[in-house]
Amino acid sequence: MKIDTARVYRTAFVAADLVRDERPQIAFVGRSNVGKSSLLNRLLGRKGLARTSSTPGRTRSINFFLIEERFFFVDLPGYGYAKVGKGERAKWAKLIDTYFAHAFPGALVVMLIDAKVGATKLDEQAYAYFCDRGISPVVVATKIDRLPRGKRMSAMKQVQVVLGNREEMTLIPFSATTGEGAQDLWGTLHRYVNAEKTA
Ligand code: GTP
Ligand code: MG
Repeated sequence: MKIDTARVYRTAFVAADLVRDERPQIAFVGRSNVGKSSLLNRLLGRKGLARTSSTPGRTRSINFFLIEERFFFVDLPGYGYAKVGKGERAKWAKLIDTYFAHAFPGALVVMLIDAKVGATKLDEQAYAYFCDRGISPVVVATKIDRLPRGKRMSAMKQVQVVLGNREEMTLIPFSATTGEGAQDLWGTLHRYVNAEKTA
């Protein structure tokens, strides 16, 4: 999948900065340090577009990237980062709530789970948060390169079980390091973008 244009469109720290227009938005969510920004860079074939770091909590704002002038990738701050103080965490939670409740209720949510760590209680809560809002996230088991092939099936099963064993759930193994799963994920994202366009 070759992307011709991808650019930083806006960095939102407060609700007023959120992008509200008719173009489709694909939001990437998951625990802090799970690999959201890395996945985004891999999908776009651009190494440094979204800032990545081995220190959790790197992404602190809602970052909008405009792809092919047609749709947005939205890089959200990770949840569950212990070092962020309560006040800041509440501020993020509010901004994220505003994003999903008002600014863009129709967004496609891509939820990342660390394949090696497995789905945690926080992931379960986040998944339920979206389901309660009528959003059914596409789930990506990332950093799959860190798991030997023999352990991948059981890891995927664990994710499915923790997230409620929903038959309709899309679960894609992925690695930002090797590019595994990128084509699969693009297939799902394109179906969404094209459906939005004709809707
Ligand atoms: P926050 O913005 O802090 O929430 O983090 P993030 O979810 O955006 O994670 P980021 O992309 O910054 O990656 C975190 C760390 O995981 C970095 O050290 C990456 O190099 C590493 N990483 C990300 N994806 C993969 C992957 O697929 N495989 C491996 N082995 N490492 C990865
Ligand atoms: Mg990030």
